Amino acid sequence: MGFEAIDVKPVSGALGAEIFGVDLSENLTNHKSAEIHKAFLDHKVICFREQKLTPHGQVEFARHFGEPDIYPFIRGLSDVPEVIEIIKTENDTVNFGGGWHSDTSYLEKPALGSMLYALEVPTAGGDTMFANMALAYNALSSGMKEFLGQLVGVNSSAQNYRGGREKKMNELEGMRGKFIESSEVSVAEHPVVRTHSETGQKSLYVSRAHTSHFKGMTAEESKPLIDFLSDHAVRPEFTCRLRWQPGTLIFWDNRCTQHFAVNDYNGGRRHMHRVTLVGDRPS
Ligand code: SIN
Repeated sequence: MGFEAIDVKPVSGALGAEIFGVDLSENLTNHKSAEIHKAFLDHKVICFREQKLTPHGQVEFARHFGEPDIYPFIRGLSDVPEVIEIIKTENDTVNFGGGWHSDTSYLEKPALGSMLYALEVPTAGGDTMFANMALAYNALSSGMKEFLGQLVGVNSSAQNYRGGREKKMNELEGMRGKFIESSEVSVAEHPVVRTHSETGQKSLYVSRAHTSHFKGMTAEESKPLIDFLSDHAVRPEFTCRLRWQPGTLIFWDNRCTQHFAVNDYNGGRRHMHRVTLVGDRPS
């Protein structure tokens, strides 16, 4: 099926598309929203330019594709708690999301997808990269696929935050005071090969940022394979890179992609609003 109500222009051979012909602040017709959903499943990452979205408007748009969630570690906006702010100030040298990962894979039901909306961006830099985990899976040998098919990954919210998430978060001026003190370490076991609940495609579901080890194996035994898979998953031919402008909204599928916020703009300021959607239990 082609598209009638929207224009869809792929941004790379691997994944990602820009969508034209949509004003996200208006009520979407069922037809448009169905086509956007199809573009999302086909391309895994979709990007809308020159949008004017309030936090309420972003949540309303998100509702077309699922139930907006509350992120467990960062306090949302007081009047729209589903929206968290991701800010890197001119004084920050560390950024949020600066490692390849899939959002909240340490939860029993990780986020289906995430929507990031740009309010302020640096004059150059601050792009986000995405990688297609179905392509990464398909490129593995049949022997490796068979082996991985039996493995369960143990994913932990503490994996990337040695010394404590709050301490690391407070190192970022832009994120200071937003950490939810009561939040605890979350650990979840998920298959390393995940079958997409809507497309039926198989994807790699493992990352250095969140996977601490494989079930039944030690961290030392697991590390070489986690490292291999994490490097393999983000080979250039599986990726795309998207540039932000104020008013850009990008919606990615966490079930079959990973992303990486590039930290190449020290001295610049970047301010985003993020909404995540409630997901299902990976199988
Ligand atoms: C994230 O990991 O959700 C943030 C991505 C970004 O800021 O580009």
